[in-house]
Amino acid sequence: MKKKIIKSHEHSHQARDRERWKTKLGVVMAMSANAVGLGNFLRFPVQCAANGGGAFMIPYFIAFLLLGIPLMWIEWGIGRFGGKYGHGTTPGMFHYLWNHPVAKYVGAIGVAIPFALVLYYTYIVSWTLAYSIFSIVGSYFGIETYEGMVSFLSAYQGKVSNVYFRDIGTAYIFYGITLGLMVWILSRGISKGIEMLANAAIPLIILFGIILVARVVTLGTPDPSFPERNVLNGFGYLWNPDLKMLTQSKVWLAATGQIFFTLSVGFGAIQTYASYLKEKDDVVLSGLGTSSTNGFAEVILGGSIAIPVTVAFFGLTRTQDIAASGAFDLGFFAMPIIFQKMLFGQIFGAIWFFLLFLAGITSSVAMAQPLMAFLQEEFKIVRKKAALIVGAFIFFLSQPVILFLKHGFLNEMDFWIGTLGLVVFAIIEVILFLWVFGPKNAWKEIIAGADIKLPRFFFPIMRYVTPVYLFILLGFWFFQDGIDVLMMKGVPEANYPYIWFARFLLATILMAMIFLVWVAWQKRHVIQRRIPE
Ligand code: ALA
Repeated sequence: MKKKIIKSHEHSHQARDRERWKTKLGVVMAMSANAVGLGNFLRFPVQCAANGGGAFMIPYFIAFLLLGIPLMWIEWGIGRFGGKYGHGTTPGMFHYLWNHPVAKYVGAIGVAIPFALVLYYTYIVSWTLAYSIFSIVGSYFGIETYEGMVSFLSAYQGKVSNVYFRDIGTAYIFYGITLGLMVWILSRGISKGIEMLANAAIPLIILFGIILVARVVTLGTPDPSFPERNVLNGFGYLWNPDLKMLTQSKVWLAATGQIFFTLSVGFGAIQTYASYLKEKDDVVLSGLGTSSTNGFAEVILGGSIAIPVTVAFFGLTRTQDIAASGAFDLGFFAMPIIFQKMLFGQIFGAIWFFLLFLAGITSSVAMAQPLMAFLQEEFKIVRKKAALIVGAFIFFLSQPVILFLKHGFLNEMDFWIGTLGLVVFAIIEVILFLWVFGPKNAWKEIIAGADIKLPRFFFPIMRYVTPVYLFILLGFWFFQDGIDVLMMKGVPEANYPYIWFARFLLATILMAMIFLVWVAWQKRHVIQRRIPE
């Protein structure tokens, strides 16, 4: 009994001292800023165009309804639940969901994933900052060919040395600025840092998005000598459904992967943000609001910029090739050429890249916050110091991503973490919450304090459909892509050591997190272990 009193006292103390979001609107803004990222503006249009256009939207919406939204609510529910016990990260959350000594170590995955993601995501975000400055000052103006832009970016990334950039120094400067900004935001905390940033960033992202969409839809036919190169054909290319594509499993996998990535579910980052809710705060409407804001930014804004404008300037065939080569090709090669052909192109270019930067940095901050919360809560490190430690870790561990970019290091990390890792972690949390913690308990957690009534049919969806769907997905993924990636199919032999190094780094990050959880529990949680009733 005495132990129990100590326990609840500890909890209320730890939970009471936690930071909180300031306003209800701020919560949705922060969560939306967490979700809206490069994925909405670069990854989505490319995935959509390459996987059946309008037909892609069918598996996309199915995945949104059966996986995205349920996982969003589940993660908000787990997060707010953990916050009650003073834990902002999944080791502590899982510890209370599942009365087993292993639970906290499983939770280590939910800190390792966002941390591994932030190592490469932030570096890409820093390119967008650089390109917004390059647009204003016109650095790439005059490079009018696609190949020219490829060589501009390659030199910036230090892959080659040429007249545009002699070395990787400029990239390091922008990376340093981006990381510095992140550390500063993190050090200001939840309401004064993250919430304030989101309150400014989300309206700006939407405003910039609308400005760009307005410019795109009024482009008409930029070059009358190519009448078929027009905006309408661009929208047609993106949205005309190629229903045949629906028979291909790759389309379903791509759509589901996009839902995960864009909503930031399976990351561990939503749970951390949700832990700063108050016990009685709503989860259902806010989770829905976040998902809808993200959907708007993705489908309406993200879908109406890069692809239509590229078709209008480059024509359909070329756009297809560009989209097939990946998200960066569209954003960093095609768009800068297009801006040069537009009136006030320097300004539109700056708006485009700054929009990407705002969307990106707010997601980066969200991915770094789990480690922040972990250090603050489990190691009692003060916020400013924790932010510096997180910044230093990110800087040092991202070096291989930066230096071995041309050897496929980033892509390898992205497959294991940004694709497979998210699904695996989502399976774990659904099972823990809806099966181990108990379906009724989970449902009660989610609907507690809800501002709208959550339709009951979501209960069987969360309990059965979501996990089954995830398992099927994982199976397909493994057999379709996983084995090839594992066996390094198509990877030049020269890159093998780098690929192994990437895997080693990921395994090390996970092991290190597990070790830190062990240390933290040794130190702090001896009296907090769940006491049998
Ligand atoms: N959800 C974030 C994005 O879309 C990670 O980029």
